Amino acid sequence: EGVFCPLSSVRTSLPAPMFSRNTISVFSILKKCIGQELSKITMPIVFNEPLSFLQRITEYMEHTYLINRACSLSDSTERMQAVAAFAVSAVASQWERTGKPFNPLLGETYELIREEQGFRLVSEQVSHHPPVSAFHAESLVGDFVFHGSIYPKLKFWGKSVEAEPKGTITLELLKHNETYTWTNPTCCVHNIILGKLWIEQYGTVEILNHSTGDKCVLNFKPCGMFGKELHTVEGYIQDKSKKKLCVIYGKWTECMWSVDPQVYESQKNDCYLVFQEEVDRAVNDDADDMPDVQETVSVVPGSTLLWRIDPRPAHSSTMYNFTNFAMSLNELEPGMEGILAPTDCRFRPDIKAMENGNMDEASQEKERLEEKQRAARKERAKSNQEWSTRWFQSGTNPYTGSQDWIYSGGYFNRNYRNLPDIY
Ligand SMILES: *[C@@H]1O[C@H](CO)[C@@H](O)[C@H](O)[C@H]1NC(C)=O
Ligand SMILES: *[C@@H]1O[C@H](CO)[C@@H](O)[C@H](O)[C@H]1NC(C)=O
Ligand SMILES: *[C@@H]1O[C@H](CO)[C@@H](O)[C@H](O)[C@H]1NC(C)=O
Repeated sequence: EGVFCPLSSVRTSLPAPMFSRNTISVFSILKKCIGQELSKITMPIVFNEPLSFLQRITEYMEHTYLINRACSLSDSTERMQAVAAFAVSAVASQWERTGKPFNPLLGETYELIREEQGFRLVSEQVSHHPPVSAFHAESLVGDFVFHGSIYPKLKFWGKSVEAEPKGTITLELLKHNETYTWTNPTCCVHNIILGKLWIEQYGTVEILNHSTGDKCVLNFKPCGMFGKELHTVEGYIQDKSKKKLCVIYGKWTECMWSVDPQVYESQKNDCYLVFQEEVDRAVNDDADDMPDVQETVSVVPGSTLLWRIDPRPAHSSTMYNFTNFAMSLNELEPGMEGILAPTDCRFRPDIKAMENGNMDEASQEKERLEEKQRAARKERAKSNQEWSTRWFQSGTNPYTGSQDWIYSGGYFNRNYRNLPDIY
């Protein structure tokens, strides 16, 4: 298993810069589709980024050091703080990423082993309608297991696209016999037709400690009319008697801090006005510009830094605003070709072509793969065959009781018998 490159030698840029979107007008395509589910609309490939959604969810692992930190802490409140920082950091990679990842094909898989960060991950597209991606990551030294299944429900609102990530994320800290679960906030891409594209995340994320019923509540604030709360995340950790143990605050695009609740209340003297923005996004034709209030997080004295975002590399702006971590995800590292499952995203010819800057080829290949998938589905229907998933089984999440996909194990034994030919 330890055959792949150490982190220090994975690539830090893509083979080619991105194609400019400026010349494309999609208004005529999209005008007819208001209110529909986006998965039913064919978007021009120029709005994609050269990663599969399976790779995009792997970006949760960028800040694995926060899970490792949680494992190493003996104080349970501090562990919860590290887990909260991890949950926020996991969506930070979406900042300025307006490209749409490729929809995974049914049966598509992705694996990532990062010895320096101490984890390995496998994921599989387990359902096509609705599109469900299941992932399972584990510590290489047995400290944690991190898994989930995500159903990104996309809605097109005329001027914006909203992605509601349905599904539960579960983190088990094995040494501490602790399990945490949460769901990600809703992500919205504004101005997909005119104006400047920008990204907002909003909603409440509740991280539950299933051993005690203690929880951390994080409120990702919508930006509001004057942008005062743009990117702001604010919340607290409470014990089961609802006593606030600490306040957690910051921005998902920047950094997160924690502080004593009393200190926070006494220091937070600038009275926030909370504007309830109710904009009818589909009716008004003007662009919803991103408010340009950009002051950074004001730190309350006595706070502890939980996490700070890494700066994007300089060439990121010509490469889909990828982070360094994202740049490496589709790389076929030396030695991988003979070892990866043939269903691995890195073998997808459309993503590969787009990454290399060949947009026409990418578009043709994407169409071919989708057609091949449709034909295979028809074949199965004709012979009354059910699709069976390979590495995950449908089941119940033992902590939340909700429907989930559970890893059946064995992927890294690398027995690829009977894998479907999807490319
Ligand atoms: C979570 O549950 C464990 C196990 O019962 C407990 O020891 C710990 O205090 C809890 N931690 C938090 C932060 O709620
Ligand atoms: C990258 O970020 C810039 C600055 O916010 C933005 O104008 C651009 O549209 C983004 N590009 C992509 C591909 O998301
Ligand atoms: C872990 O926690 C569960 C549920 O609280 C309990 O039933 C089990 O005995 C614990 N195991 C250990 C090793 O502490």
